[in-house]
Amino acid sequence: MQETLEATKKMVDYLAKVNEILENNQNDPSRLIPILQQIQDVYKYLSKDVISYVATALDVPVAHVYGVATFYAHFSLNPKGKHIFRLCDGTACHVKKSHDLLETLYSKLNLSDEKRTSDDLMFTIELVSCLGACGLAPVMVVDGEVHGQSTPKIAEELVDKVIAEEAAAKGV
Ligand code: FES
Repeated sequence: MQETLEATKKMVDYLAKVNEILENNQNDPSRLIPILQQIQDVYKYLSKDVISYVATALDVPVAHVYGVATFYAHFSLNPKGKHIFRLCDGTACHVKKSHDLLETLYSKLNLSDEKRTSDDLMFTIELVSCLGACGLAPVMVVDGEVHGQSTPKIAEELVDKVIAEEAAAKGV
């Protein structure tokens, strides 16, 4: 019984932010895309539970919400790490050896093409096409901050910085 109560409380807490976003958008089904974007900004991905909840709240079929969430590449249905390393794999960056950055990050974080999010949900590596800053190639965006003319050493240092900040935040 206690476990059920705990689980319910967790779910209510989890959905509090979703409710706030729905309210801010007046529960308007025509605002489904911005609603999903705002939810993803908070949770980093769209879980099955959230998709069903949004469908119910907006009174639209779950299949419709699911269809929108899967149509746009921007949406993710899988959990992502707290820190996102986004590497450009456009032509200019590729020529400037963006692949070396990718390999360095894979090796440092024990990730691969098949597994791009760490088990502790701390890191996700994403590959994107041209970020529109080709003059700065190779370009990497870490938690929204652009790093031009990146090198494997810079990539490693950025990972170390995140790890150090996380440790400091936990008081380790
Ligand atoms: S190809 Fe990487 S920013 Fe354009």
